[in-house]
Amino acid sequence: MKNRIFSGVQPTGNLHLGNYLGAIRNWVRLQKDFDCIFCMVDMHAITVWQDPKELTSNTRMVTAGLLAAGIDPRNCIVFNQSQVFAHAQLAWIFNCVARLGWLNRMTQFKEKAGKQRENASVGLYAYPNLMAADILAYKATHVPVGEDQKQHLELTRDIAQKFNNDFGVEFFPLPEPQILGEATRVMSLRDGSKKMSKSEPSDYSRINLTDGPDLIADKIRKARTDPHPLPDSIAELEKRPEADNLLGIYAALADMGREQALARFAGAQFSDFKAQLTDLAVASLGPIGEEMQRLVRDTSHVDKVLREGAERANALAEPIVRQAMEIVGFLKA
Ligand code: TYM
Repeated sequence: MKNRIFSGVQPTGNLHLGNYLGAIRNWVRLQKDFDCIFCMVDMHAITVWQDPKELTSNTRMVTAGLLAAGIDPRNCIVFNQSQVFAHAQLAWIFNCVARLGWLNRMTQFKEKAGKQRENASVGLYAYPNLMAADILAYKATHVPVGEDQKQHLELTRDIAQKFNNDFGVEFFPLPEPQILGEATRVMSLRDGSKKMSKSEPSDYSRINLTDGPDLIADKIRKARTDPHPLPDSIAELEKRPEADNLLGIYAALADMGREQALARFAGAQFSDFKAQLTDLAVASLGPIGEEMQRLVRDTSHVDKVLREGAERANALAEPIVRQAMEIVGFLKA
């Protein structure tokens, strides 16, 4: 089977450094050598309440972020999920393939639903089935994501396998996660035990791609650390989550291994290290943020990219999902 890459991002809130280093920057690199499809997953977004106007503007904003980061719609397909009906159709079939027991194990649902489980939407619970449909509607073989999506990809493989077994076919591939780079799980700047996320109330917990130089500097300056200088071994570093996180961010932005970054800063005070991290972050993210602000004002361009992307995505997904429907035994009209 030909290699094909699919990945997605929710158009909720701002894109942050975790999205960039864990996913988007890798997508930019992969688009040159592979057949790639990148999706703004607006149907996933509404599994928790979204103000309709904000959902529209966030979809454009996140698309602008991808384009500003270097995703080129001439090299790959960029679109928003709700425009391609195949996702919802295949998701329904997968709702009937996946088992309740499988979904009950999903840690992201447990985290997101929290104590309000009874009040969570059915969509939030079935979310991983839609994600499997996103990937398999294109028979994608590789899925570049951050560490937090690994469990969802294991479920995708289970769904593909069960579909194939139940119907006695070799129809869906078992897609492989691609968890790449030194920052596959960027943590909050305020708490090294929590993931950097769009939904965290404190904006100082994350660096957004739209943050200007002064704000980036201030957030890094205020990032939580401990009172000791940076250690000289990875084993020591791993005992200090906040130091480990900041060093991982530095290594990823500088495109070097953790060991190499540590060798550069072993014994350094945080104030010196943070100043260099700030310079690097501003140099890497500044131009992306500026281009994003420019693109987001050009809504007609962004909408055109999404419309054309949706047409191309639909042309790939529709025949695959139709075949899946036939395998299930749905009568063709
Ligand atoms: P989302 O929108 O939460 O995040 C988009 C991408 O960013 C990665 N990411 C991170 N990486 C490192 N550190 C972090 N702190 C961090 N936070 C987010 C995510 O791993 C992801 O790769 N369910 C997905 C969207 C999705 C999808 C798909 C992905 C829907 N269908 C099909 C791949 C294939 C999500 O909520 O990502």
